[in-house]
Amino acid sequence: MMHLRFASVSLILLLTFSSLATGQQAIDLGPSIVNPDSRSPIDNPLFPVDDGERQILETLQQARKGPRYANVSVTDGRLLRLLTETIGAQRVVEIGTSTGESGLWFALGLRKTGGHLITHEIHPGRAKIAEENFRRAGVDHLITIVLGDAHETVKDLEGPIDILFLDADKDNYLDYLDKIVPKIRPGGLIIAHNMVSPPPDPKYIEAITRNPAFETSFLLMDAAGISVTLKKR
Ligand SMILES: C[S@@+](CC[C@H](N)C(=O)[O-])C[C@H]1O[C@@H](n2cnc3c(N)ncnc32)[C@H](O)[C@@H]1O
Repeated sequence: MMHLRFASVSLILLLTFSSLATGQQAIDLGPSIVNPDSRSPIDNPLFPVDDGERQILETLQQARKGPRYANVSVTDGRLLRLLTETIGAQRVVEIGTSTGESGLWFALGLRKTGGHLITHEIHPGRAKIAEENFRRAGVDHLITIVLGDAHETVKDLEGPIDILFLDADKDNYLDYLDKIVPKIRPGGLIIAHNMVSPPPDPKYIEAITRNPAFETSFLLMDAAGISVTLKKR
């Protein structure tokens, strides 16, 4: 008990000093979905580097209290931002906008890389909420929402695409892969959500693990699960 109390006090002190050091207040997006009842250091609040980042994180914080639909977890979202910024992505394509939470995670990276997100959604109500979230976060100029059935609308996509993120109708990832891969640049990434739950289409797993043109890693598999596939150079 004493140990626990000491650990909590230390954590609070650490967060206070860290936020003083950066000059920015931390933003708490809630506990992870893996361990909803416990806060471990990996669930620590996020520290925005500047006011633009703060505005996006605050919008995410608000969005997570409002209407949501199958949005990525904080842990998954952080990975999306990290990959976007790491590969200097200029053009990111998302299938499945929902209310725009993953879009906001991508925007954290894209405002630094100078890139753009083209996100596809079939449900007008969700697309409308996403649009409002992007405006509130001050990133609407970085994002284009394409309304309609993405199996049709992706035919108009132009390349080169740096990142493709699949997060819509889970049984049809293969169709998106076939249609969009030719437009992904060598060295680009195909990221697919829900590699654990709901269970992925085995044909999609085959396609990304048995093709010599691809190298795939499966990450964060203790929750929804994400595959990251490199289109080899
Ligand atoms: C899992 S949610 C996306 C969550 C979002 N990426 C996030 O993390 O905030 C899947 C979305 O895909 C949309 N969707 C399903 N089938 C689609 C299709 N054929 N074309 C475009 N969007 C589709 C659904 O309406 C739903 O909003």
